[in-house]
Amino acid sequence: MQKNFDELIDSYIDNKVGLAENFLSKSLSGHLIENLKQLYNSGKLKSAGTGNDTEVVHDKLFRSDVIYWLDRKHNDPYENDFFDLLDSFVNYLNSTCYTGITGYEFHYTLYPEGSFYKKHLDQFRNNNSRKYSMIMYLNADWKISDGGELCITQLDHLQTISPQNGKAVFFKSNEMEHEVLVTNKPRMSITGWLKC
Ligand code: OGA
Ligand code: NI
Repeated sequence: MQKNFDELIDSYIDNKVGLAENFLSKSLSGHLIENLKQLYNSGKLKSAGTGNDTEVVHDKLFRSDVIYWLDRKHNDPYENDFFDLLDSFVNYLNSTCYTGITGYEFHYTLYPEGSFYKKHLDQFRNNNSRKYSMIMYLNADWKISDGGELCITQLDHLQTISPQNGKAVFFKSNEMEHEVLVTNKPRMSITGWLKC
């Protein structure tokens, strides 16, 4: 576990974008994929909107993913395993990097075939509590031709990340502009923010 945490943090420090290839174990990602599929089939995933809670705009030309918030109150064993993993990561991050993270929020995300999320920052204009963005992908056997890359604007280049199963991405929410390119297949993930 600590090896994955170090991989994510070290690459973040080197490159402003942290990457860890196997942050979620095969077994945990498999269970979370099953959860996500069931939630989708039972109509629980809703379009996400942009802006903060008081001014949500559902703009399908800007983003077309659907989401469902994870919660310990669901008493779902795999959501709880996920939160246990994140608790360990946040403790490790706070103790090694003095980040002072005091909370987080995570949702399941599904981008149906043909959907995308245009270039944006993850911090709301009137609320700066989101410090770090973290995305973990739930896509077995993702191929280049499936598209759906995360494109992050670095100073002098675009960094393109393919949403392969178990991979985690980590970056500063108020600094890194990014977009999700059109996906040619349903694209699944858990997306969230570490907060102060
Ligand atoms: C987001 C986002 C990126 C991704 O939900 O804000 O940018 O790769 N997601 O899913
Ligand atoms: Ni984003």
